[in-house]
Amino acid sequence: MSVKHFDVLILGSGVAGLSTAIKTAKALPDVSVGVITKSFDYESNTKYAQGGIAVVWDKLDSFESHIEDTLKAGDYLNDREVVRMVIEEAPKRLNELIAWGAEFDADKKGNYDLGKEGGHSANRIIHHKDITGFEIETTLLEQVKNLPNITTLQHHFAIDLITDHHVKEKITKFDKANITCYGAYVLDENTQEIETYTAHKVVVATGGAGQVYASTTNPIIATGDGIAIAYRAKAKIKDIEFVQFHPTALYQPGVSPAFLISEAVRGFGAHLVNKKGERFMFKIDERGELASRDIVARAIDNELNISGEDCVYLDCRHLDFDKFLEHFPNIYEKCMSIGIDAKKDLIPVVPACHYFCGGIEVDKQGKSSIKNMYACGEASCTGLHGANRLASNSLLEALVYGHNIANDIIENKKEFENKELNVPKWDAEGTIAPKELILIKHNRRALQTVMSDFVAIVRSNQRLSKALKKLDEIYLDTEEIYKTTVLSPQLCELRNLNAVAYLVVKQSQKRKENKGAFYSLDLV
Ligand code: SIN
Repeated sequence: MSVKHFDVLILGSGVAGLSTAIKTAKALPDVSVGVITKSFDYESNTKYAQGGIAVVWDKLDSFESHIEDTLKAGDYLNDREVVRMVIEEAPKRLNELIAWGAEFDADKKGNYDLGKEGGHSANRIIHHKDITGFEIETTLLEQVKNLPNITTLQHHFAIDLITDHHVKEKITKFDKANITCYGAYVLDENTQEIETYTAHKVVVATGGAGQVYASTTNPIIATGDGIAIAYRAKAKIKDIEFVQFHPTALYQPGVSPAFLISEAVRGFGAHLVNKKGERFMFKIDERGELASRDIVARAIDNELNISGEDCVYLDCRHLDFDKFLEHFPNIYEKCMSIGIDAKKDLIPVVPACHYFCGGIEVDKQGKSSIKNMYACGEASCTGLHGANRLASNSLLEALVYGHNIANDIIENKKEFENKELNVPKWDAEGTIAPKELILIKHNRRALQTVMSDFVAIVRSNQRLSKALKKLDEIYLDTEEIYKTTVLSPQLCELRNLNAVAYLVVKQSQKRKENKGAFYSLDLV
């Protein structure tokens, strides 16, 4: 198998990856951009984002207010310079998206309908009904289609990054603190071949890792692949203990991923109640149902522990039904499909893993600690979110960093080296085709159970050590399978889930103060 090459190799086809690809390809038509995605190009966390994009748009709103809300939600662990940069860039990035064809809900005069979500002190969520992510993803894919210098490879799984460790002529100079990325090994799921892709610049935009938990709003593909391959390549991983649980996933035991009931529903006025019909949020926070997600998720967890019930409820019965339907047609329909009519019935909800606030550490240009490797979107840790992400700041972050990375690539195109590299082919010697996938499936389920039982909304030293012990067993078993079996996407995902779960536990053990989404009983 010959070595393949793109000038810029982008891993992931959500808003972060595609916006980087589009901007780079438009500015540099002579540069080849490869977008590698392990599933269909439209399948990403972006597609499932319901709420919208937080942007200061209303004259009565201000950057200062959005900045303060972001810092408060992040428990002031955010990077203030990054917060200001992202929030001040937001209107420009949104206008660009509109120019590319994205449509957002507006009145007849063209004034955008600005929604509200938890932690926001103003209405500033630009949205497309309750399927904003889908609208953005479709718009970006349409743009990609018209750019001949972008090649999208669907069903291609990036197994590992190629660094000095692999490039023979560099190996004598291998230095942990000074690593360069040269491309990636990629499993072509159509041919089952592992191909070598070299690139001048690699952008990791593979999204989140919600599948580390048994209950998550994230699709089945959200297995933290980018974070894991970057970790194996020795990139710095930061703040990964801050895992955000969305307070209101639809309660449907055994159904995974869990269907999200957007926070915008509470922003629209829905109440959170327990089985007795009592609103419990005001006992905890003066913002009630619109406190930030970490606070609401913890309050629900506490309510369920005390009552022994399985779920709490969203009460929408007092809301203007026609307007509710206009804003949330998808949510209404989903509830109806399981016999819940939001006009008359309470919607049962529980918290579920939703978003990784940390990831691959990057600077303001999206550069990681590895040379020639960038990261953006949920796989990255920019410092915007601190200890807990403010609702609807993630699509925004992805757009801003996609822009910054593309600019950095464009400005530094002269760095592209045309030197032939001696990159070895993937070594699959000693491996055989798996006879069955049950061991992999079992380990994935076991890992998810450990994480949900011991490393979820509430942690403790004892729970973390127990988790680590159990994860070690799963890791050793997985490595044994890895060393002897031909690679499959299922096995790659399991290895990556192992790495992410390990990082969450280890970084949780190091944290000595409860902050935002991180809460340990031993630190109260
Ligand atoms: C939601 O609609 O509640 C999710 C939006 C987000 O995670 O920012």
